[in-house]
Amino acid sequence: MKPALSFILAVTLVDVGLCTQLNYTNTSILPLTDLPSFRGIDLQTAHGNSSQLRTDFDSNNTITLTPARAVHYDDVKISEELYERLVYFSKICALTYCITSSELVTGLTFEEGGCPARLEFCTGKEQNPTADRTMVELVLLAESEELGTGYLAVDHEKQVVMLSFRGSTTNQDWLSDFAIYPTPYEPASKEYYDDWVTSGRVSECEGCLIHRGFNVFLKTLSSQFFDRIESIFDSFPAYSLVVTGHSLGAAVASLAGIELRLRGYDPLVLTYASPNIFCGKLRAWVDELFETERIHNWSVSEGEIMFRKGYFRVVHDEDYITMVPPFYEPAGLEIFINHRELPQTQKHLEYRGPSMKLISTESMDTRPAFSSSGIGLGHRLLGPLEKWLHMYEHRAYFILINTCGGF
Ligand SMILES: *[C@@H]1O[C@H](CO)[C@@H](O)[C@H](O)[C@H]1NC(C)=O
Ligand SMILES: *[C@@H]1O[C@H](CO)[C@@H](O)[C@H](O)[C@H]1NC(C)=O
Ligand SMILES: *[C@@H]1O[C@H](CO)[C@@H](O)[C@H](O)[C@H]1NC(C)=O
Ligand SMILES: *[C@@H]1O[C@H](CO)[C@@H](O)[C@H](O)[C@H]1NC(C)=O
Ligand SMILES: *[C@@H]1O[C@H](CO)[C@@H](O)[C@H](O)[C@H]1NC(C)=O
Repeated sequence: MKPALSFILAVTLVDVGLCTQLNYTNTSILPLTDLPSFRGIDLQTAHGNSSQLRTDFDSNNTITLTPARAVHYDDVKISEELYERLVYFSKICALTYCITSSELVTGLTFEEGGCPARLEFCTGKEQNPTADRTMVELVLLAESEELGTGYLAVDHEKQVVMLSFRGSTTNQDWLSDFAIYPTPYEPASKEYYDDWVTSGRVSECEGCLIHRGFNVFLKTLSSQFFDRIESIFDSFPAYSLVVTGHSLGAAVASLAGIELRLRGYDPLVLTYASPNIFCGKLRAWVDELFETERIHNWSVSEGEIMFRKGYFRVVHDEDYITMVPPFYEPAGLEIFINHRELPQTQKHLEYRGPSMKLISTESMDTRPAFSSSGIGLGHRLLGPLEKWLHMYEHRAYFILINTCGGF
C-alpha cells in the first residue's frame, strides 16, 4: 500500500463523499479548494505563503487525496501483447501534439508523410510495423483554448479505427482549462440516450454530475462532428474502434467514447493520465454503460485482461493529475504503472480492476504540513510548480507524452 499522503488540500466540506453537497461559497477557502482546478489561481502565490498554509492545514477541514484503492489482481495477467498495445496507443496519443505544427496530414499513411518522418514511430518499420497501412483520415482542430483537438486514423492492417484527443499543450492550459464546479450531466446524443433508457439497456443517469470544464466541451460537440466521424466508421464496419487520449485529452476521449457508445458503437476507451471528471452517480452510470463489472469479472475468470472493448484507464504511480480534482471519480478498469522512470516494461504493470473513489475521509491528516518526507506538501515548497504537480510522472507513460518528438 502506498502512503495515503500524496496531496493535501484544505477545504470546507459538508460531505466529502458527494460533490452535490459541497459548499463553494466560502471564498476565503476557495483558492485551496480550487487548487486542482488551477483556474485563475497563481499557485506559487497561493501556496508559497507558508503562514497561510499552516493556518489552513491546522484546521480540521483537511482531506487527503489518496491513490486509487490499491487492489492488485495478481492473477490477472498483462500479456506482452497487451503491453505492446498500451505502448502503441500511448504514441497514438502523443501524435496529437503534432497537430499544432500541422504535421499530421489527412489522406496519407503514416509512412507516406501523414505523420512526421522524423518520428521513428511514423516511418520506422521496427517501431511501427503497420505505419504503411495506417492512414490519417481526419484532423480535428478545436478553437484555440477549446478542448477537442485530435485526429482519426485507420490501421488497415490491424483493422482498427483510432480516435485520439490532445491534452493541454502547456501547463498554462491547465490553469485555464479547469473549472471544478460540478454541473448536471446530459449526453450530447440525447435521442440515443433516451432510446437506451426506454429500452432498459441502461439506467437513467439521475443525479449525474460532471466537471463543468468538460461539460463545456460536450456542448461544443456538434452533430457535424459525429456525422464526419461516423461516416468514417461506417466505411469500415468490421473494424474495431479505439478512443484514446492523454491528460485532458483522456477526459475528452472519455466523453466522446460515451457519446459513441450511445450511438451504437462498441469502443475501447483507453485513457492515459486522466483527471477525474465524474461526480454524483455519473461514475456508476458510465461503468454500467461500458459493462465495466462484466469485463472485470470476465478478466478475472480468464486470468488475463479482456481488452477488446470497454473503458480502461492507465495510471502512473504518483501522477497527481489522476487524483484530482477532489470529489470527482474515475470510471473504468485500471491498469497501473508502478515504475517512475522510463523505460517502463511489462513487469511494471498491474491490473487494479474497477476504479474506486480516491478520497479518504477517515484520515484527517494531522501530520505536520511541512514534513520532509518527500511526499505530499513537501513538493509544493521545494520549488517549481512542475515538480510539485509531478509533471514528470504525468507525462511518463511508456514514452514522454506531450511533445511531437522522441518516439
Ligand atoms: C453554504 O455556505 C453558506 C455560507 O456559509 C450558507 O449560507 C449556505 O447555507 C451553505 N450551503 C449549504 C448547502 O450548506
Ligand atoms: C470561511 O472560512 C474561514 C476560514 O476557515 C472562516 O473563518 C469563516 O468563518 C468562513 N466563512 C463562512 C461564511 O463560512
Ligand atoms: C501570507 O499570509 C498571511 C496570512 O494570510 C498574510 O498576513 C501575509 O501577508 C502573507 N504573506 C505574503 C508574503 O503574501
Ligand atoms: C481537530 O482535531 C483534533 C484531533 O482529532 C481535535 O482534538 C480538535 O478538537 C479538532 N479541532 C476542531 C476545531 O474540530
Ligand atoms: C461479477 O462477479 C461478482 C462476484 O462474483 C458478482 O457478484 C457479480 O454479480 C458479477 N457481475 C456481473 C455483471 O457479472
